[in-house]
Amino acid sequence: MPSAAADRPGNGTPLLEVSSLVVHHGQLRALDAISLRVFPGEVYAIIGANGAGKSTLLRTIAGLHHPTAGSVRFDGEDVSRVRPERRAKRGIVMVPEARRLFGSLSVQENLLVGATYARPGPWTIERVYEMFGWMRERRGQRTAQLSGGEQQALAIGRALVANPRVLLLDEVSLGLAPVVVQRIYGMLPQILATGLTVLLVEQDVSQALRVATHIHCLLEGRTTLAGKPADVTAGQVEAAYFGLGPAAAAADGAEAADTPGAAGGGSADAAPPGEGSEP
Ligand SMILES: Nc1ncnc2c1ncn2[C@@H]1O[C@H](COP(=O)(O)OP(=O)(O)O)[C@@H](O)[C@H]1O
Ligand SMILES: [Mg+2]
Repeated sequence: MPSAAADRPGNGTPLLEVSSLVVHHGQLRALDAISLRVFPGEVYAIIGANGAGKSTLLRTIAGLHHPTAGSVRFDGEDVSRVRPERRAKRGIVMVPEARRLFGSLSVQENLLVGATYARPGPWTIERVYEMFGWMRERRGQRTAQLSGGEQQALAIGRALVANPRVLLLDEVSLGLAPVVVQRIYGMLPQILATGLTVLLVEQDVSQALRVATHIHCLLEGRTTLAGKPADVTAGQVEAAYFGLGPAAAAADGAEAADTPGAAGGGSADAAPPGEGSEP
């Protein structure tokens, strides 16, 4: 019987390890004992409804919230007390929810901002321009004049020029038309090919299941399901997402049983929640 870790890429040391993480916003326990391990080369997707704690998790990994308990380890080192900009320098780089670009700056200036804490590595502004050809042509344009999809691409480009080792993507599909979402996720293979690992947050479950090597569902700050997309059924995902019935019991907090046996689910094509929900 193989252990959960045995069938994960990078076998051995996780690049990112979150252990028993508890985060409060005032009195609110936004994350309650969250554990996860992300191995090199993975696309690890955090799913869950609005308010589940997904952004809080990503922001805590990036160093923007302080945990009440638990730890964040990166490449074998405890970074729980490391400041955000130092985490960025080590390779933890986030594309925040709602992008947070500087609207009055030009496209190129936003990319230069991203390069501020850059590590050495394959990504340069030139390389971003190669991936998104339109960006070079419009590099002098004010960012506020770009469409939502273009701004999202720019936000990703800004993160890439920092040469992340793990790229944290918070809801890149939010508010974008499906065709634009496909275009953005279509860049993922090129990004992964440069050796990056991706931890993403996605409210659209079917989108997450299409791209992820591992999914992890949160509900009100708790883990309700974690496993490989092929090993979970649409029903289990739906139950975990909405907190229905025994799927929550199948959750392993992290990697324990690599989840629910109920085999052969064809999970990705069975209309889980989120399908078509966000235009
Ligand atoms: N800065 C904050 N101050 C107070 N409450 C917050 C803050 N950020 C998030 N919350 C609350 O924490 C919970 C989790 O939020 P969040 O992590 O943004 O969820 P998600 O990204 O899954 O929608 C929600 O109840 C939200 O209202
Ligand atoms: Mg969020």
